[in-house]
Amino acid sequence: MTAPAVNLDTDLEAIVQNAASAFATTTTPAELENAKAQFLGKSGSVTALMRGMAQLAPEEKKTRGAAINRAKQAIEAALTARRQALKDAELERQLQAEALDVTLPGRQRGAGALHPISLVWERIEHIFASMGFDVANGPEIESDWFSFTALNNPPNHPARSMQDTFYVDMQGEDGQPYCLRPHTSPMQIRYASARARKYAAELARGETPEVRVIAPGRTYRVDNDATHSPMFHQVEGLWLGENVSFKDLKVTYLNFCRAFFETDKLQLRFRPSYFPFTEPSAEIDIQFQEGKNAGKWLEVSGCGQVHPNVVTNMGLDPERYIGFAFGSGIDRLAMLRYGVSDLRQFFEGDVRFLEQFS
Ligand code: DAH
Repeated sequence: MTAPAVNLDTDLEAIVQNAASAFATTTTPAELENAKAQFLGKSGSVTALMRGMAQLAPEEKKTRGAAINRAKQAIEAALTARRQALKDAELERQLQAEALDVTLPGRQRGAGALHPISLVWERIEHIFASMGFDVANGPEIESDWFSFTALNNPPNHPARSMQDTFYVDMQGEDGQPYCLRPHTSPMQIRYASARARKYAAELARGETPEVRVIAPGRTYRVDNDATHSPMFHQVEGLWLGENVSFKDLKVTYLNFCRAFFETDKLQLRFRPSYFPFTEPSAEIDIQFQEGKNAGKWLEVSGCGQVHPNVVTNMGLDPERYIGFAFGSGIDRLAMLRYGVSDLRQFFEGDVRFLEQFS
């Protein structure tokens, strides 16, 4: 018995088609190898056809064998193509997964910039230096003598409560504890007495060389709200000479404010006040004619004519030396210059805030 030759090629055609569509539905190499086994494996349909050939006559074997071989080659070609397609798809998937967005900006190390308080501090130094003031700095941990007593503010004086500060567990020779200085005023005594020693020869000859200095620095008080921080900054000013008057104070401070705020459209008001180290004493208020604070009086500084006791404590003769002193809040000046309403923002270290000044 011979198999009906006419169906043979149609069968093979169907097997090749089936194989091609089976391969096409696979999504992984393992699935593909399983699908391959259904056709070319030991019990696969092509293998079965090959086995069936044993019964054929030699002539038929030849044609049938050739046809099966062609079918096998076609299946192998489909298999190879699918293998390649799966490989390509896998590569594509990996590339997607590991994709680098080369258009993203690089992560740079941010360049540092000066803190707004430092900017203002430097600005103050430049302006006063241009007016002939020396710039001095001194210790933040200060003795009771320099902080209070030498400034005409003896122990138990009620004016001491104006400046409640932090005390340090360390006593000076006078038995009084050291403190974190509550103001920069100790620098008046430190600087002027150093000058007095330096000028000893001139002073002995009856000359009166001037003392003209600012001393910016950190100061401390037991205070914490929107306009007070326990650590803050002041700038002390001192100008002593033979005939340095309150008028000089007014002119000096006005010129400073005009330079500092870069406008002539401002006014100063000297309001009577009390400080132990000055007599008379005043608070300086500033009023801008334009801008968001226009029309308001804002306190910026304490000031006054240096008290004769203080001049004596500097080692200078109050009969020959008169002059003025002032102490201004640097943070306050910074708030006014930059329009910052909460002082604490300067010290929170928030880069988004600080970046605006760089
Ligand atoms: N030291 C004062 C304070 O911190 C400010 C001050 C007032 C300083 C008058 C002065 C001055 O030099 O003359 O409150």
